Amino acid sequence: MTQDHFSFGLWTVGWQAVDPFGTATRPPMDPVHAVHRLAELGAWGVSFHDDDLIPFGSDDTARDKHIERFRKALAETGLVVPMATTNLFTHPVFKDGGLTSNDRSVRRFALRKVMRNMDLAASLGARTYVMWGGREGSETDAAKDVKAALDRYREGVDLLAQYIVDSGYDLRIALEPKPNEPRGDILLPTIGHALGFIAELEHRDLVGLNPEVGHEQMAGLNFVHGIGQALWSGKLFHIDLNGQRGPRYDQDLIFGHGDLLSAFFLVDLLENGGYDGPRHFDYKPLRTEDEDGVWASAAANMRTYRILRERAAAFRADPEVQEALRVARLDELAKPTLGDGETLADLKQDRTAFEEFDPDKAAERGAGFVVLSQLALEHLLGSRG
Ligand code: GCO
Ligand code: MN
Ligand code: MN
Repeated sequence: MTQDHFSFGLWTVGWQAVDPFGTATRPPMDPVHAVHRLAELGAWGVSFHDDDLIPFGSDDTARDKHIERFRKALAETGLVVPMATTNLFTHPVFKDGGLTSNDRSVRRFALRKVMRNMDLAASLGARTYVMWGGREGSETDAAKDVKAALDRYREGVDLLAQYIVDSGYDLRIALEPKPNEPRGDILLPTIGHALGFIAELEHRDLVGLNPEVGHEQMAGLNFVHGIGQALWSGKLFHIDLNGQRGPRYDQDLIFGHGDLLSAFFLVDLLENGGYDGPRHFDYKPLRTEDEDGVWASAAANMRTYRILRERAAAFRADPEVQEALRVARLDELAKPTLGDGETLADLKQDRTAFEEFDPDKAAERGAGFVVLSQLALEHLLGSRG
């Protein structure tokens, strides 16, 4: 049996639970300790921001030491680094953004910070480089020329993709959309905006998406549809799994602890829709928990994913579901609308398509979606085999 490709950000289990209203409820966690505990729990990979591993401002000697300890922990545990990313949001210098700050010197500093961590990511064997533009945005429309900011964003992403090519790295960039928080409005707020942006890049082949469950749901959008379109565009490079309960602040709950029905259909899609990348959890252990609670929450993410995968497989295998899918004409949707070799001229000649077609009669047919939907719900609840 091959191991599940479950991975966690160092910043997830290591979150000290500082929020806008309160200080930390947990002590800092040594990344080496996190690697060992994650491995014991059965995780496969670990991801990090540069600053999670090497505190901002460390000198070269200190930096090397942090990296060495981390490498050793990876070697001892067999954990891999599938993805890395840059912190362009914590230090006050990034208060107006990294790659799109109005201050050009900040943009140049941001580029260098990303390049330096790309070198480390490649040397650790990462294949995906995530770019979440948490501070790329504004609170007031007076202060951001969105067209100019997108020019700078495009310039930055294309330069960084060029850096990957020039360095011969086996890396691809994955943009992570989010509508707001910490900025009032963030550029590339949704999967759709990000796909439109990628199409404008010179290096569009090297750039895809790292969508996060909660971020689309904060915008009131259907995450399963977003992932469906990302897959359809060949752009689902990576994914951040977590939970969110509707449009409100970014909750980063355990996977499945938000919209559970959506999580069920998401797992069904990931398992059957051609995604073979990491199942990466980007969540925050509840602020109420001590370290035991942190590890219970890490395990809960993986356990929930496995249960949902089991339920989705049972759903697909159930003969009643297969019949309901046929009744709901899912097989028909997969068939092209014109016949093989048929032209528009042929369609115009086909009287059954229009002149003899009875729309009232066709409209009478029930779609059968309720039965199918209830079957899914019952499988999710485990009340059907
Ligand atoms: C969030 C974001 C972040 C990013 C991560 C990578 O919850 O706002 O998901 O966690 O994914 O920082 O840069
Ligand atoms: Mn989030
Ligand atoms: Mn994320």
